[in-house]
Amino acid sequence: MSLIDHATKVRERAYAPYSNFKVGAALITTTGTIYVGCNVENVAYPEGTCAEAGAIAAMIAGGDAQIAEIAVIADSPMPVSPCGGCRQKIAEFAAPDVPVIMATTDGLRVQTTVRDLLPGVFTPDHMSRT
Ligand code: THU
Repeated sequence: MSLIDHATKVRERAYAPYSNFKVGAALITTTGTIYVGCNVENVAYPEGTCAEAGAIAAMIAGGDAQIAEIAVIADSPMPVSPCGGCRQKIAEFAAPDVPVIMATTDGLRVQTTVRDLLPGVFTPDHMSRT
């Protein structure tokens, strides 16, 4: 199964009763393990979490921390784009040239990179004067 296949499968488990917008994410680590996540909404709307955040949490819980590639899919008219917060979350665990595949359930695909998704990423260097 491809990363998109994994993201497609986990998307079905998304809990999105408020937006009705189910999202699935799958990532593969540099060690070759695949982790998946889906969005989990909450009646207190800001408490909802994105699919990418779920996949990243699963990766960390699984003992991995280096993303080699990540894919996101939704039933959207154009390939779903990780939100700003998720871009920063992905950048925490991915090199700038890591591929990000954005997809629709209709079969549209766009491939970009962590670097291109988040120019000017906030890094630990911004907090260091030495
Ligand atoms: N969402 C994701 O899970 N990932 C994205 O990349 C974009 C947005 C979710 C958050 C919310 O549950 C729903 O999609 C609508 O914003």
